[in-house]
Amino acid sequence: MDHTSDEVMERLNRRGYLDLEIPKGLDLVSAIKRLKKEKKAVLLAHYYQDAEIQELADYLGDSLYLAQAAGKVEAETIVFSGVHFMAETAKIINPTKKVILPDLNAGCSLADSCPPPDFKKFIDQYPDAHVVTYINCSAEIKALSSIVCTSSNAVRVIDSIPQGETIIFAPDKNLGRYLIRETGRDMILWDGSCIVHEAFSFERILTLSKENPTAKFIAHPESESQILDIAHYIGSTSGLLNFVEKDSAQSFIVATEAGILHEMKKRCPQKTFIPAPVEDETCACSECAFMKLNTLEKLYLCLEHEQPEVKLSQSLINKAKLPITKMLKLG
Ligand code: 13P
Ligand code: SF4
Repeated sequence: MDHTSDEVMERLNRRGYLDLEIPKGLDLVSAIKRLKKEKKAVLLAHYYQDAEIQELADYLGDSLYLAQAAGKVEAETIVFSGVHFMAETAKIINPTKKVILPDLNAGCSLADSCPPPDFKKFIDQYPDAHVVTYINCSAEIKALSSIVCTSSNAVRVIDSIPQGETIIFAPDKNLGRYLIRETGRDMILWDGSCIVHEAFSFERILTLSKENPTAKFIAHPESESQILDIAHYIGSTSGLLNFVEKDSAQSFIVATEAGILHEMKKRCPQKTFIPAPVEDETCACSECAFMKLNTLEKLYLCLEHEQPEVKLSQSLINKAKLPITKMLKLG
């Protein structure tokens, strides 16, 4: 179906994604594969995406892996199936590429919990502090940081700061508390959190564990302290995947976004994975509503029209690139 570029931009500006008509009976998977080739586009996808999007990815991984992969892309276009801060990070790392995201509204509650003007006032109170920010934040926050980290390398990043120095950690207070415990470093924490990981129910996890006595309970460090205290293993999405592959247990209760279960089942088809229950028994809150805004339909339209595009000013890219490059050097 043909659409003028004015029509495309008008729809985009109104909604943040393309809601144009898709030809009836179109095989979206084949069409997306074809468009990737035609448009010289590489698809980067996070483990929290829907299974069919994960299956189409050229690079599938956690935040660190996707940041590293973004730097290696030689193709003209990066299509990012993840949330906005991830696509923004890809643009900062590889700014000559066109970076497109199926839905610009795919935000993140953690990133939203840290508005740049407030954060600037906060860090100005500690002029000598090293500002460590979790990658789940906006480009503006990264530009105010000394170094960025992900949940895969946060301990390594904090260990790289000389003992005795003042450290601010933002925006996730739960990950921050976990890192204080792991590194033994005192850190000043920003009061942000992830709605998905804060939704898990401690009581219901205890009950589920009693009902499944041989299952190991594993959690992402964005979860609250009392949940992490009862976990057999705590790690990033890639850490959790490696753990279930290597551990001898045959069943696991998993406290992170439910999209990861697809890759877990693929890697360990003989094992059982149970999503950790959330407080609200009526809702599937362990799904990240932001991540799930990306659909096959939006991915198809995004590739077809090469929109919506993630755009950042060159000065913001320059400032935000320094703390990301520092992190990538640490691995
Ligand atoms: P990972 O880096 O562990 O994949 O985390 C991404 C994320 O958004 C967790 O909520
Ligand atoms: Fe952000 Fe939480 Fe969604 Fe991850 S799961 S993208 S931290 S809201």
